[in-house]
Amino acid sequence: MGIERSAILGMGFYVPPKVVTNEELARLMDTSDEWIRERTGIVERHYIEGEVGVADLALPAAKKAIERAGITKDDIDLIVFGTLSPDYEFPGSGVLLQAMLGRPGIPAIDIRQQCTGFIYGLSIADLYVRAGIARNALVVGAEVHSTGLDFTTRGRDVTVIFGDGAGAAVVGAPRVADQGILSCALHSDGSYAKELWCDKPGSRYHPRITAADLERGDHFPAMKGRTVFKHAVTKMPAVLDEALKSAGVALQDLDIIVPHQANLRISEFVQGALKIPAEKMVNNIQRYGNTTAASIPIALCEAWEEGRVKPGALVALVAFGAGFTWASTIIRW
Ligand code: COA
Repeated sequence: MGIERSAILGMGFYVPPKVVTNEELARLMDTSDEWIRERTGIVERHYIEGEVGVADLALPAAKKAIERAGITKDDIDLIVFGTLSPDYEFPGSGVLLQAMLGRPGIPAIDIRQQCTGFIYGLSIADLYVRAGIARNALVVGAEVHSTGLDFTTRGRDVTVIFGDGAGAAVVGAPRVADQGILSCALHSDGSYAKELWCDKPGSRYHPRITAADLERGDHFPAMKGRTVFKHAVTKMPAVLDEALKSAGVALQDLDIIVPHQANLRISEFVQGALKIPAEKMVNNIQRYGNTTAASIPIALCEAWEEGRVKPGALVALVAFGAGFTWASTIIRW
């Protein structure tokens, strides 16, 4: 039996304890605290230590989300795991989390939509729950960037931006009237795939990576920063508008907007272009850097913990990133 709407019932996030400041990065490469703050807003980020994968980061975030939803792990019947930095080439991190949680047999779906991964994941969970196929879906966004970055001056444009972390949400049947996910708008345009990407290892290459590739740094993420910026500041307002229209609400009705924490300048640009009051925007990139699929659930969960997301609040999530992909969702809390 299907239901009309699904809702976020609980959230959790986890970042590894090690904090890395801009000054520490400036000791490894030709950059400065001033440059990083001015161009990105970032002051510090968290990195894993030792052999820790995204499933390890996701587990405490998932447990907290389950507890806050007032259910147990045995009530979870679907996992949707968004990450661009899976523990292994295969299998996906969703099954690793499924085993760690102790939920044998439930389906686990991995998705690879990078910065929009959490919104894509929510839309999948929403459809499964509304269709009556899942009762409580666990949606995760988690990244370990720090083991895949170039800590030399060659990689400074990308490396200073990213951090590690995880966020999770339980999606199930609404608990109160009017609560729920009102709309989701999803897009992609693969003609920009190489503007923000990681080339190697890749299945099209024989072998998938060589010593020469490693020497050149083809296994590190590469980004055309200005192109990303230009597309982000046009696509994010457009997809937010689309999700608002589809939900039948206006921009002014929103109580809180959680943009993907790509870069503080991008969030400020979007805020300025749409004339959104600063107190409605959630920005925490200063402390976590860009955690890709984890950035929205971390920011949303932290805003909720701070009492900024109240029952009945109208919430917008909006993201842009690699692919290119862009997405937005409107949620009545
Ligand atoms: N520290 C110091 N200098 C740096 C640097 C760093 N970490 N990274 C790049 N630079 C240098 C460049 O080498 C360049 O030097 P040059 O003029 O001698 O060639 C100079 O700074 C300016 O580089 P440019 O790329 O033109 O800077 P920018 O103003 O476009 O800012 C970004 C760079 C990455 C901050 C900006 O393009 C941006 O925010 N893009 C969006 C990125 C993003 O959000 N990505 C995540 C998407 S999910």
